Amino acid sequence: MFLWGKKSRIVITCAKGVSPFLKQEILSVGFPALSAGMAEVETEGTMEDTQRLNLLIRTGQRVLYLLESFSARTPEDLYKRVSRISWEDYIPEDSYFSVTSSVHNPTIKDSRFANVKCKDAIVDRIKEKRGRRPDTGPERGKIVVHLYWKGNICQVFLDTSGEPLSRRGYRMIPLKAPMQETLGAAVVLATGWTGDGNLINPMCGSGTLAIEAALIALERAPGLLRSNYGFMHLKGFDESFWKALRRRVRAEAKDTFNGRIIATDISQQAVEAAKKNAMTAGVERFIEFGICNFSETPVPSGGGAVVLNPEYGERLGETEKLKETYKNIGDFFKKKCQGYRGYLFTGNLDLAKKVGLRTNRRITFFNGPIECRLLEYDLYEGSKKSKD
Ligand SMILES: C[S@@+](CC[C@H](N)C(=O)[O-])C[C@H]1O[C@@H](n2cnc3c(N)ncnc32)[C@H](O)[C@@H]1O
Repeated sequence: MFLWGKKSRIVITCAKGVSPFLKQEILSVGFPALSAGMAEVETEGTMEDTQRLNLLIRTGQRVLYLLESFSARTPEDLYKRVSRISWEDYIPEDSYFSVTSSVHNPTIKDSRFANVKCKDAIVDRIKEKRGRRPDTGPERGKIVVHLYWKGNICQVFLDTSGEPLSRRGYRMIPLKAPMQETLGAAVVLATGWTGDGNLINPMCGSGTLAIEAALIALERAPGLLRSNYGFMHLKGFDESFWKALRRRVRAEAKDTFNGRIIATDISQQAVEAAKKNAMTAGVERFIEFGICNFSETPVPSGGGAVVLNPEYGERLGETEKLKETYKNIGDFFKKKCQGYRGYLFTGNLDLAKKVGLRTNRRITFFNGPIECRLLEYDLYEGSKKSKD
């Protein structure tokens, strides 16, 4: 069976709430958006196209290439249909694969059982064809097969990303409560900041928002930071095509941008980690770091976006203490950030009310299981107080 060069459906998954931004990204890199759900966008293309998507997409988690779709009611149906796929054409000798799944089927109580059935079908097929079993296990560093099974609909994908795309590889020192890199990119894209005006990021933690902002402003493909992807382990992978693609994509990046990125945190340890992470991402010279209370963060004239991701009580810090912090954020916005758009990313709407300013826009995102909001405030002179 032919794999490379063949067009198929491609599903790109993302954190819940991110799909409008992912859809926009897919369109802007020249692919169609065939449908969009809460946590995925469907497009189409070849396996070669998945390499481009893995390199360019900032907000997606996994680029899944559809191999087969069929109807299956029971685990036995699944086994039968999966073993009909010519895995020996996709999985090289002496390779390793793992299976992940998303299962919503009444006959399956534990999705691990569906994984095992799927894995057994692949292993048995390859053993029959080659006389040897391939290695399997939970690590996602090589070939990853993804099973989607809802009701009777079963879709078998190659997860061309392998490790999720949020693992860009620059966050060597994550600290506590970091935001996923892909979510950080979605938050920056939601602010509309692309390099004109300034991006101010007090409470920067491990620097995710500032680093993603720099990558966006420089139009640098986030995938260039990583060297391992699932597709590289498939039979027929053309390394020279991949290297040429990386070179082309690298050449498309800009050397500079107009605005400034300022990232501060009260914790010296956080700022040191953020600096190191920025260095690993190759953007440290585009970010001005400082150690200070958020309210002392320099806000130069010129406008732009001020983005804060304070603790919100669920994972760190005490809610009572945080009430004061959120109130002070409101004062900081009002007094020091005039002419800017203010953004607060939080999972605690009660605390957000303490900011005391009227919101312009509220975007729902999920940070893992926690429902969060990105709140936008227009910060002009005499900003309106909220009625909350
Ligand atoms: C939720 S974390 C930010 C995570 C960040 N977005 C990331 O991806 O790593 C909140 C940060 O706010 C910082 N912080 C807490 N209170 C602060 C204050 N009064 N002034 C400045 N930074 C503060 C903490 O040190 C912590 O790094």
